[in-house]
Formats: sequence, C-alpha cells, structure tokens
Amino acid sequence: MYLQKRNRILRQSPAIRAMVAETILRPEQFIAPLFIDEGKGLKTEIASMPGYYRNSLDHTVTEVKELWQMGIKSVLLFIKCPDDLKDNTGREAWNPEGLMQRSIKAIKDAVPEMVVMTDVALDPYSSYGHDGIVENGKIVNDPTVEALVKMSISHAAAGADFIAPSDMMDGRIGAIRAGLETEGFTETGIMSYSAKYASCFYGPFRDALDSAPGFGDKKTYQMDYANREEAVRETLMDVEEGADIVMVKPALSYLDIIRDIKNSVSVPVSAYNISGEYAMIKAAAKMGWINEDKAILETLTSIRRAGADLIATYFAKDAVRLLG
Ligand code: PBG
Repeated sequence: MYLQKRNRILRQSPAIRAMVAETILRPEQFIAPLFIDEGKGLKTEIASMPGYYRNSLDHTVTEVKELWQMGIKSVLLFIKCPDDLKDNTGREAWNPEGLMQRSIKAIKDAVPEMVVMTDVALDPYSSYGHDGIVENGKIVNDPTVEALVKMSISHAAAGADFIAPSDMMDGRIGAIRAGLETEGFTETGIMSYSAKYASCFYGPFRDALDSAPGFGDKKTYQMDYANREEAVRETLMDVEEGADIVMVKPALSYLDIIRDIKNSVSVPVSAYNISGEYAMIKAAAKMGWINEDKAILETLTSIRRAGADLIATYFAKDAVRLLG
C-alpha cells in the first residue's frame, strides 16, 4: 500500500506515546475525600466501599500526613454526626466545637500547607437526611441558605481553606460569599458543587455517613440527569455569585457536562468521581472481570480529558502509587 499518512506512527512505542499524550495526571490534581468519625482509634471499613474507611480524628491526622508526603495537596472533609445531635435545623453543623470544626483545626495544625476543603450541606446533621431544612414535607430554600452561611463561617473560622457547598439550594454561593466577606474571611475560597445531579451512584456515600434521605428523594434540589444546558446555567450563576472553583458531580455519567462547563467558564473545573463509581470498579475487579489498576488510570484520565482540572476521588492514593 502507498499511504500518505500513517496514524500508527505516533503509537508505535511507549516513548512516542508518552511524548504525544494529550492528558497527564498529576498528584496535585487529586482531592482526597475523608470520612471522619467521633471517637479514638477507630477505623471502620465502609461495606459498600471496600478498601475505604471512616476514621476517627487521630487516624485521620495520620492519613493526612501520609497524603501530603505522597504529593496530594488537598482533602475534602465529611463527618459522621452522631444520631442524638441530628435535628431538622442541622444546628450541630455550625457548632464551633463540632467534629468538623475540631477536624479542620487538627488537620491544619498537623499539616498547615494541606488545602482543607469542607463539605457544606445539612444532610449529615439532618434528622431527615436531607440537605436542607424540612417544612411540611418540603425542603425550604431560604432558611436553608441562612443555615449554610452559618455553617460556612464556622468552617472558615476553624481554618478551612475552601468551603464546598454540595446542597444545590438557590442563591447559596452569593450568600456564603457575602457572609465570609462580612466576617472578614477574605481568603476563604468557595468550591461550588455547581452542577450536582440527583444520582443513584451516591448510595455508598450515604452508607458511609448514615445520611440517606428519610423520606422522598433529592430531586427537588439536585439536577435531573436528563439535562445538559441547565448545568451550564447553574454553573454560570455560581461563578457570578463568587465561586472560585466549580464542580460537576458525578463524573463518569456526566463527562459531556464536564466538557460543556470547561468550555463555558474560565475558573478551574473540578469533577467528583463519586462513591458509586468507586464501588463499581471495586466490585468488578473483585469478581476478576476488570483490572483494577488499569480501570483507575483510564477512568481518571477520561475525567481529565473531558475537561476537569481537579478530581475529587477515593482513588487518589492508588492513582499516585500507579503514576509512580
Ligand atoms: C451531601 C453529599 C453527597 C455526596 C457529597 N456530598 C451525597 C448526596 O448528595 O446525597 C456524595 C459523594 C459520593 O457519593 O461520593 N450533600
């Protein structure tokens, strides 16, 4: 055959493939989510997330030191709130001595340079397991936003670097930004879960925090997975209201959305490779149906290729190990 152009030339050796690779993974791009429990010396494996643990604060601090040594620059904190502290207002969420606030301080004391991000939503604190306050069976927007502002300020006061609102109430980014400004927290960032979909893939996470909704679902605040343009609209509003980083969540069923958003904004875009996505790879690998290490690298690379600058992932440590 005479061919003018042979595309396989650029694929013929590992060296050439590495030279022309368009997408590169680096440890700095990973955000490691951490689940924190009350108590001491506790390390509980999450049944639906094999190999991932909910740790008491002492173990969490050890873990954060290890993550930092590996080159991971950021953690995203979630706490499991004891049942007796849950109510409909979620008031434990802004207790200055709460587990989240104590965790932020302990982590910043131990590894001051680690970028600490905190999940802001009422679900772990809500007796209904919803992200907002419930009145007459509805999740009410404006009173919830007031609660989220208090929660955000308390995280900033404890030393959080970024507040990460995951609740999908309207107007919360602007209100949180205004609250932070008023209280003098002018260096606290906001990473908004700006396009967060009502997804079945959050199941294992809700096991980890015992935060499944007690009634109904989250479809009146989280987005409908049928929608694409709405994600851009939501995200542009969050940027206007003051988000420093935006996020798409989940990641794998939403790679098109990540790309749309990457093309529409000029702030960094993150994506959350969520619990159900972790569980699927773990389960298939355990059955011997896929190679776990290869699946991790292919998955994370695809999320980056779609347009994510940052990835929150339970595979952060594995990925760093695999990148060697
Ligand atoms: C809480 C929150 C959820 C996740 C992150 N923050 C669950 C939910 O909205 O029900 C999910 C993360 C994951 O599945 O890994 N607002």
